[in-house]
Amino acid sequence: MNEITQVKTIDPAADRLTRLAELKQSTRSDHQSVDDMVMEMAPFANRENYARFLRLQYIFHSAMYPLYLADDLNQLMPGLADRSRQDAVLMDLADLGCDVPDHRSRHALPQTGAARIGWLYVCEGSSLGAAFLLKAAAGIGLSADFGASHLAAHSDGRGRHWREFVDQVNGLALGAKEDEALREGACAAFEFFRNLLIADAANMAKLESQG
Ligand code: HEM
Repeated sequence: MNEITQVKTIDPAADRLTRLAELKQSTRSDHQSVDDMVMEMAPFANRENYARFLRLQYIFHSAMYPLYLADDLNQLMPGLADRSRQDAVLMDLADLGCDVPDHRSRHALPQTGAARIGWLYVCEGSSLGAAFLLKAAAGIGLSADFGASHLAAHSDGRGRHWREFVDQVNGLALGAKEDEALREGACAAFEFFRNLLIADAANMAKLESQG
C-alpha cells in the first residue's frame, strides 16, 4: 500500500468512467443479489425479522471496523474513521434489547492493501440504499432515533457524505494491480454479506422444520 501516496485531481473532462462508476457497473449483479436476499428476509415485516437483519449488519460493520480505523487509509481518506456505523448498530441493538451477537466470522477481511478500499466502498455504498430501508423501518415503529440509527443519513446529508467518499476514492493514485485488488475487495465484501444472508436463511429453514 506504500505506493498510494498522492492524490490526483479528477479530470471531469476525462472521457472514461471514474473508478467508482466502473465499480458500480461491474458489481451491479452482486448488489442486486444481496438486495433481493435482504428483501426475501422481509426485515421490516416485524421486529423479529428486523433483529435478524440487525444481527447481520452488526457482523458486517464490526468486521469492517478495523478497516475504518486503519492509519494508512485515514491518511489517504481523512475522516474515514468517523464514517464507521458500528456504534450506531450497537445502539440499535441496545434499543431493541438484543444481545451483541457473539459471532466470529470464518472469513478474514484483508488488513492491508487496496482490497480494503473495495470493502469500504461496499460498506459506504450500503448507506445509500439505507434511505429506503429507513422509510420501511417506520412501519415497525423504528426511526433514526430508535432502533434504526445505523440507517440514518449523516448530518452532512446522505448524498453529500457519499460523494465525499466517492471523490476521495476516485482521487487516489492507484496502480493497475491495486485497482484490481480494489475490485476484488468489493466483490469479496458483497460475497461476505451474501454468505451471511445464506446462513441466516438456512438457520430459519432449520428452525421452521423443527416446528
Ligand atoms: C434491501 C436491501 C437494499 C436495497 C433496497 C438497496 C438499494 C440501493 C439503492 C437504491 C442504491 C442506489 C442509491 C442511489 O444511487 O442513490 C444502493 C446503492 C448501493 N448499495 Fe444497496 N441496497 C440494499 C442492500 C445493500 C447491501 C446489504 C449492501 C452491501 C452489503 C449494499 C451496497 C450498496 C452499494 C455499494 C451501493 C452504491 C452503488 C454505487 O452507487 O456505486 N446495498 N442500494
